Amino acid sequence: MQCTAYSGKTIAQAADCLVVGVFEARVLGTEARAVDRAARGRLKGLLQRGDFSGRAGESLLLSDLPGLRTSRLLLVGLGTTQGYHRRNWRKALGTAVAALARTRITSAVMAIERPSDKDLDAYVLARSAAEACGSALYRINDLKTGKRPPAPRLARIKFGPFETGALADARRGLGDGIAISDSATLLRNVANLPGNICTPRYLAAQAAQLARSYRAVRSRALNEAQIRRLKMGCLLAVTRGSAEPPRFIILEYRGGRRGAAPLVLVGKGVTFDSGGISIKDANAMDEMKFDMCGAATVLAAFDLAARLKLRLNLVGLIPTCENMPGGRAIKPGDIVTSADGQTVEILNTDAEGRLILCDALHYARRYKPAAVIDMATLTGACVVALGAHHTGVMGNDDALAQELVACGRRADDRAWQLPLTEEYGEQLRTNFADVANVAGRDGGAITAAAFLGRFTKGMAWAHLDIAGTAWYSGNNKSATGRPLALLGDFLIRRARG
Ligand code: BES
Ligand code: MN
Ligand code: ZN
Repeated sequence: MQCTAYSGKTIAQAADCLVVGVFEARVLGTEARAVDRAARGRLKGLLQRGDFSGRAGESLLLSDLPGLRTSRLLLVGLGTTQGYHRRNWRKALGTAVAALARTRITSAVMAIERPSDKDLDAYVLARSAAEACGSALYRINDLKTGKRPPAPRLARIKFGPFETGALADARRGLGDGIAISDSATLLRNVANLPGNICTPRYLAAQAAQLARSYRAVRSRALNEAQIRRLKMGCLLAVTRGSAEPPRFIILEYRGGRRGAAPLVLVGKGVTFDSGGISIKDANAMDEMKFDMCGAATVLAAFDLAARLKLRLNLVGLIPTCENMPGGRAIKPGDIVTSADGQTVEILNTDAEGRLILCDALHYARRYKPAAVIDMATLTGACVVALGAHHTGVMGNDDALAQELVACGRRADDRAWQLPLTEEYGEQLRTNFADVANVAGRDGGAITAAAFLGRFTKGMAWAHLDIAGTAWYSGNNKSATGRPLALLGDFLIRRARG
């Protein structure tokens, strides 16, 4: 997809189709008013007849209106004027792109009003627009064998109008937005694959592919023997029940100064989480193929950093394995030793994410990182707390946590901080080992983070629990691409310094 920004008159722009917004109660948007004047009142006439309500999610394609340079005009509903904020704007962009993708239209002028918000400059708005449009064009990489519906023809979008002074920022935003949506496509394609295809070895192959595609990226994948040499007893414990070999993937991206402290990104890569001996019930167990969305986000972040040639150093760590029951599987009550020497009593084999992450977090230490951010579909409790709308943020550095919350707000990929105070860690005490891997139901998202916090002392660390946000469950099941937009904003800002 090619995105450009324009300034000046919308109706002077050439394309197959012009897209303008209409509010509820038949209020034309700014650009729609200009179109109506050029088309000698045809839009007002149409609204008066009641043919278009302007409700959010609605669209209407019109042909051959007088006075326009484009042969087609698409109206999209914006909802009420008072309720018009970023959400309805993004929704309108998505509706428009979905409607255009059903036609043979290849180019469009997108003149839907941008919401007014002091915090959102031309760069952020343009980035958000390109990303929303790119994301609306995503098609699930299914394995259906029938005839495929034709791919959308839409390839060029002009966004505007922008003030001339804001054009450069807008263009930069569009470029970054396309990159984010392209990298999110990689994330979603990997995450949507079934567990029998997307195995730990498959994730390692994806990392190797990134290293082949970009000179600034290097990748290595340690096998079980090498993992054993690192004494990663917790990762080894989780993989025991599985016939699939585990991997510990290490990615490096060099875009910053030599010797500048890297950001370390850690992603949970459980390619299927059955729960192990503490087995999950059958209901929606298939969704546990998405338990590697943290890992897919790390892969996508490297793709993004390399596409944008970000001036920073990154390390990516992906502990990846399956969590399966079996004769060799770990049992509740088993005690294992983590890479940093702590003994861990595994009271519930379904709390496996924190086990594979703790060994990776310990490994992060050798890089003397500027910050460590882990991303994991870690707890059902986080879904109970925040639903599918906010990613949970926890950590040992409030400034870093709040920075990530702000990134989420700017990127329309929101996150909310939960209070990781000392009491939660105390819930993990046990008579038999240094720490237990679970602490009962109460505050489950935070006790999981408290477990991870034992392995990150002295490093600036934040944890993103994406259990509720990484995929849509139920009927429209598929990976969302989150939290790549949030992370992308963070990386872009850190790279700018
Ligand atoms: N991968 C799951 C978390 C999860 C559950 C994500 C549901 C999305 C939807 C994780 O490994 C897990 O099973 N967590 C347990 C922890 C519990 C045993 C303390 C959970 O949340 O039930
Ligand atoms: Mn689990
Ligand atoms: Zn899991």
